[in-house]
Amino acid sequence: MLDWTDTHCRTFHRLLTQQTRLYTEMVTTGALLHGDQPRHLDFNRAEHPVALQLGGSEPADLAACAKLAEQWGYDEVNLNCGCPSERVQRGAFGACLMAEPQLVADGMKAMKDAVSIPVTIKHRIGIDRTERYDFVRDFVGTVAEAGCEVFIVHARNAWLQGISPKENRELPPLRYELVHQLKRDFPALTIVLNGGVKTDAQIAEQLLHVDGVMVGRQAYHEPWQMAGWDSAFFGQADPTDSREEAEAAWLGYVDAQVASGRPWSQSMRHALGLWNGQPGSRRWRQIWSDHQFKHLPLAEVAALATAARVGVRQSLEDAAAREPAPALF
Ligand SMILES: Cc1cc2nc3c(=O)[nH]c(=O)nc-3n(C[C@H](O)[C@H](O)[C@H](O)COP(=O)(O)O)c2cc1C
Repeated sequence: MLDWTDTHCRTFHRLLTQQTRLYTEMVTTGALLHGDQPRHLDFNRAEHPVALQLGGSEPADLAACAKLAEQWGYDEVNLNCGCPSERVQRGAFGACLMAEPQLVADGMKAMKDAVSIPVTIKHRIGIDRTERYDFVRDFVGTVAEAGCEVFIVHARNAWLQGISPKENRELPPLRYELVHQLKRDFPALTIVLNGGVKTDAQIAEQLLHVDGVMVGRQAYHEPWQMAGWDSAFFGQADPTDSREEAEAAWLGYVDAQVASGRPWSQSMRHALGLWNGQPGSRRWRQIWSDHQFKHLPLAEVAALATAARVGVRQSLEDAAAREPAPALF
């Protein structure tokens, strides 16, 4: 997710789940071919398995960038056919590519010929007001013929005119049944559903119909939810038992960032949801936010934030202890 899932964010998420596949934000072929490659491509080895998502449409450029992804050590390269932003449309890629399935298929083939890591796609169920299932079915069929085997489907249309990318993640209705139908029509393909999935129960329900679920905003805002996913969905031990433990490990990473000259706020911002739902979480978060432009050392801010959080918890417990016992009669 653009501006959200940078290398720090993904490193944080890895402390909570080892098995879930992580994706970079979309990086355009132009930025990779003409820009600062290390800035866009460097990542932390701890992030594996991690996929690089590309935005672009020229098969030769996509192939060159897929090669870069492979050389840099990514586990997968994913093509974005779901982003509705006007800037992306001016570049003739993202969701508007769904209107040109053959061009997408050519891009896929070029990438597949260039690399041996999996090449996958993320797309919508339609563009503008096209509600027909045939549209996405034919799109998937054409791209699958080029050798793509994994389709991550954001289960709403992209409305390409008049609404913002943010509204495009809320307003077009979710139609999970179309994604389920894709799985029925293409049983040999890996179909991953995305869009609006929040709870573990919803993930489990979707897994009855499709092969995988991609979770975006919920995972970012409520990261602790991921701490149960390795056991719930992969049959593996979870990497951490407590928020305290995850926080301590994360602060070790943030501290190393500070030692190499980066402000702690750059990485810490991704963890501000860690204590959500717990007593004192708001105070904890507030202390970190309030101190981002001040110059207190990391350890001192961490101590203040923890003291504030524990203080709120303690006063709630004290208040509960003072409550008179309910009368029996
Ligand atoms: C801030 C933000 C940036 C996003 N950037 C990307 C992106 O770079 N590539 C992409 O495929 N989807 C991007 N998305 C869309 C999400 O990946 C996802 O498809 C969408 O939010 C619906 O899933 P969710 O309801 O689980 O969040 C972005 C979403 C947000 C909120």
